Amino acid sequence: MKIAVLNGSPKVGNTAAMVNAFADGAKEAGHEVEILHVGKMKIGGCIACEYCHTKGEGKCVQKDDMEKVMPAYKDADMVVFASPIYYFDVTAQLSAAIQRVYAIGKPAKASKAALLLSSASPNPYDGAIATYKSILAFTGIEDAGIITAAGSENGSEAKMAEIRSFAKAL
Ligand SMILES: Cc1cc2nc3c(=O)[nH]c(=O)nc-3n(C[C@H](O)[C@H](O)[C@H](O)COP(=O)(O)O)c2cc1C
Repeated sequence: MKIAVLNGSPKVGNTAAMVNAFADGAKEAGHEVEILHVGKMKIGGCIACEYCHTKGEGKCVQKDDMEKVMPAYKDADMVVFASPIYYFDVTAQLSAAIQRVYAIGKPAKASKAALLLSSASPNPYDGAIATYKSILAFTGIEDAGIITAAGSENGSEAKMAEIRSFAKAL
């Protein structure tokens, strides 16, 4: 499978560790992984101009880093959303990328998705999981799994091994 991983963290930190463990496991199983560090990119919020659905024919009027994300997203068999929890949800950067996908609506190929979430405290995940599940319901993409890392689980060998074996089994 071609797997596109969207990392919404603005840092190379705990979420990146989860993403790297996922990529290692998935590559070991023979999958092709493209990591898109959207949290470090310049991606504006959707401006609701509807250019994409009229003259743009699926292209966004905004010329920013979403142009790097869209080809991988369109071509992926699986999409992985990864984010630190910021105020009980995914980051604004990942939200912006998700909302900009409005330009194409449903990805043509993706049939599987996963969610990787990092947080300081245990269980602040309901908002992020609700967003993720709504996307799956809208797109018809199947959930392959949700993995969370809270507090000291972040970067721990046990959590990295859990993520690697999850990805390896895809
Ligand atoms: C603006 C901001 C908001 C945060 N909100 C929460 C929160 O609501 N719940 C929580 O457990 N951790 C919260 N955190 C902590 C991060 O989720 C946590 O440190 C995470 O591991 C950071 O991942 P990263 O290193 O990939 O950026 C917040 C951090 C920041 C900077």
